[in-house]
Amino acid sequence: MTSLTISRPDDWHLHLRDGAMMRAVLPWSARDFARAIIMPNLVPPVVTSAQAAAYRDQILDALPQGAAFEPLMTLYLTEDTDPDDVEAAHASGLVRAVKLYPAGATTNSASGVSDFEKIRATLDRMAKIGLPLCVHGEVTDPDIDIFDREAVFIDRVLDPIRTSTPGLKVVMEHITTSNAVDYARAQDDTLGATITTHHLVINRNHILAGGIKPHYYCLPVAKRESHRLALRAAATSGDARFFLGTDSAPHTDANKLLPCGCAGCFTAPNTMAILAHVFEEDGALDSLEAFTSRNGPGFYGLPVNADTLTLTKQPGQWPTHVDTDDGPVTVFDPGFDLQWSVA
Ligand code: NCD
Ligand code: ZN
Repeated sequence: MTSLTISRPDDWHLHLRDGAMMRAVLPWSARDFARAIIMPNLVPPVVTSAQAAAYRDQILDALPQGAAFEPLMTLYLTEDTDPDDVEAAHASGLVRAVKLYPAGATTNSASGVSDFEKIRATLDRMAKIGLPLCVHGEVTDPDIDIFDREAVFIDRVLDPIRTSTPGLKVVMEHITTSNAVDYARAQDDTLGATITTHHLVINRNHILAGGIKPHYYCLPVAKRESHRLALRAAATSGDARFFLGTDSAPHTDANKLLPCGCAGCFTAPNTMAILAHVFEEDGALDSLEAFTSRNGPGFYGLPVNADTLTLTKQPGQWPTHVDTDDGPVTVFDPGFDLQWSVA
């Protein structure tokens, strides 16, 4: 196969940031993706519907001329979130999901949730109105090894939420373990799971063996090879519960290369080329469209995009860095030559 045309993809987990960073990275997502679920972990976080509306306007203002890209907004769930505000944001079509960060789990998560009883009323309301909860699934208990934090979260937090809030639609975001794949496979269609581009490509050796590679450090941190292979099998299976959420998370090189560097891989520019490579390697190019373009809309109850994107088997080129007014941002290097490119 030398050319593949699929329904235009969507990105179901994207960090656009704001200001200069947003202006620099947004064109890359808008080039290949029709819609994206926009993460709310700004400083300060996007907590209220008024903040989400203002953030959406900023994104629309920063779009390149003629770009057709729809930001699907989210609210950052806190212990003080007002269920009425959430319901109004959903009813107006402004907000498509609410994001749960356990307090301290990742970048800008200090306002996240510590006491899960305090979000009970909001979760109940979301179940009632059919608004999905996107979950950063890691416990933050310092006694739990960082490589175990996702698996422990499923047992200690996620499964209890599923049991106590029947009908709540939940997205397990950026899953990194076979435990998460197995859990998702055992659930009904109220559960979805996003998988990132980079977690299909790297395992923890890529981060740590032969010298530390800060540009491969993200959260949840990549796990051992058997987990990567489980993610590959899930993504390429066509199973409707698994869909693309790039978690493209730009940080300037200056912030990545600190003694305590930021977590996040910036994959927006080359995600589709990498995915074509990965799916072809696994003999699954015919499942790429399900993963990038059909399963996500199916879960979120949105139409599949009417327009298309064509990938051709031509050596791809992508910038090694994207320049921002705050300094360069390194683009994720998959470690292999890209044979595919977006036409
Ligand atoms: C994300 C970020 O930088 O905002 N970082 C990351 O490593 N994925 C936050 C997140 O999704 O955990
Ligand atoms: Zn993220």
